[in-house]
Amino acid sequence: MQRGQFSSRLGFILAASGSAVGLGNIWGFPTNAAENGGAAFLLMYIILAFLLAYPALMAELIIGRHTRSNMVTALQSIASSSRAKTAGKLTGLGGILAATFILCFYSIIAGWMIAFMLEPVAHFFGMEALGNWLTEFSLARNLGFSALFLSLTVLVISAGVEQGIEKWSQRLMPSLFVLLAALIVYVLLQDGAMQGLKHYLVPDFSQMADPQLIVRALGQAFFSLSLGVGTMLIYGSYIRSDENLPVVGALVTLTDTGVAFLAGMLVLPAIFVAQELGVTIYGGDGSLIAGPDLIFQVLPALFDGMGTAGLAVGFAFFVLMTIAAVTSSISMLEVPVAYTVETAGTSRIKATWLIGLGVFVCSAVVSMNFDALFGLVVTLTTEWAQPLLGVMLCIFAGWIFNRNSILSELKQGDAGVEQGLFWKVWPIYVKFFCPLLIVLTFAQGFF
Ligand code: TRP
Repeated sequence: MQRGQFSSRLGFILAASGSAVGLGNIWGFPTNAAENGGAAFLLMYIILAFLLAYPALMAELIIGRHTRSNMVTALQSIASSSRAKTAGKLTGLGGILAATFILCFYSIIAGWMIAFMLEPVAHFFGMEALGNWLTEFSLARNLGFSALFLSLTVLVISAGVEQGIEKWSQRLMPSLFVLLAALIVYVLLQDGAMQGLKHYLVPDFSQMADPQLIVRALGQAFFSLSLGVGTMLIYGSYIRSDENLPVVGALVTLTDTGVAFLAGMLVLPAIFVAQELGVTIYGGDGSLIAGPDLIFQVLPALFDGMGTAGLAVGFAFFVLMTIAAVTSSISMLEVPVAYTVETAGTSRIKATWLIGLGVFVCSAVVSMNFDALFGLVVTLTTEWAQPLLGVMLCIFAGWIFNRNSILSELKQGDAGVEQGLFWKVWPIYVKFFCPLLIVLTFAQGFF
């Protein structure tokens, strides 16, 4: 069977950055920053993204491209002993399950983004009742919009790597950059914006040693680079052989952190602009409003306060969110789909619709038991599964994957890689430091 492949370097970079840049960047990062001391969080996040997340990303890209297969087959094929093969199979299956469950909760939030995007439209046409329904929490709305969002995701993925993932990333990512830039300029020109900018950019170093801040920043970096569950591994398996992996990996990391940084430049100032307009931005305990309320209450209140212009700005903001979410969700769905197509021989279209349906059932169950399940699924997948699977991937790359195979894989894209800095540092780094640092960060969150 012919495997899909990205047709160009830019195609891959846009697709992989599309996966990386998502609700995690535009919602999660600014929210975390607002909650954890602004600039202190930003700094810690940038450090961890390059120190821990980039090496782990490289592990996934290299394993993926070398084996040209899904996570289960990939980890099994680089293992030589039967015990390592079993570990590979379990890790791979764990990754596929985690990716699927992440999509279950992601599709619910992404559905809200679409609903909030349509609200200004309804308002514009005088349909107040519809507008209220769109922004009020209800089971019907949650189910309807997560189904809509999942259908979009399924449509892109069923079209394959070049015609689906690459084509849509190439259309959507540039629109995302333009929208983001336009919104930042607009918000920074409003009264109050500078106060938010200061909160975001002037660090209070005393907060940086806060253990919670470090754990959050690491979790944020792993989630944001889509690590641990085989998303980057499968995207890596579609990169052309002559591509220079350390360079493209670095470009993706830079784009991802860059967009998170820019999203902070938009959201934090926006909070303080909202305050100028009379919106309450501090909670009862005196800390800045964060969590879901930030995006779904403070920002809409800000857009309302801006009159007619607010309709357009609000619409643009939630279009931005929706685009970011689609280019990420397709990368989650690709994980179980590639596995099913490659191991069971199912056709791509059939596999995509069936798995999409399964994810919808799962997200419906979560929606119907929202209070009990939503937080639980988020915690299990992003705080437990992702870091632990990330450790396994580093162990596979550092201890099990034959070093000469890694070197010859990298040489295809850069003949001189052996003399370069990457090859001097990365193999040792991914072998010892990455697993250790991830485990330590993870462990200190508990004690
Ligand atoms: N990185 C994306 C974001 O920031 C989400 C994402 C896409 C993801 N694929 C993933 C997260 C795989 C974890 C695992 O929103």
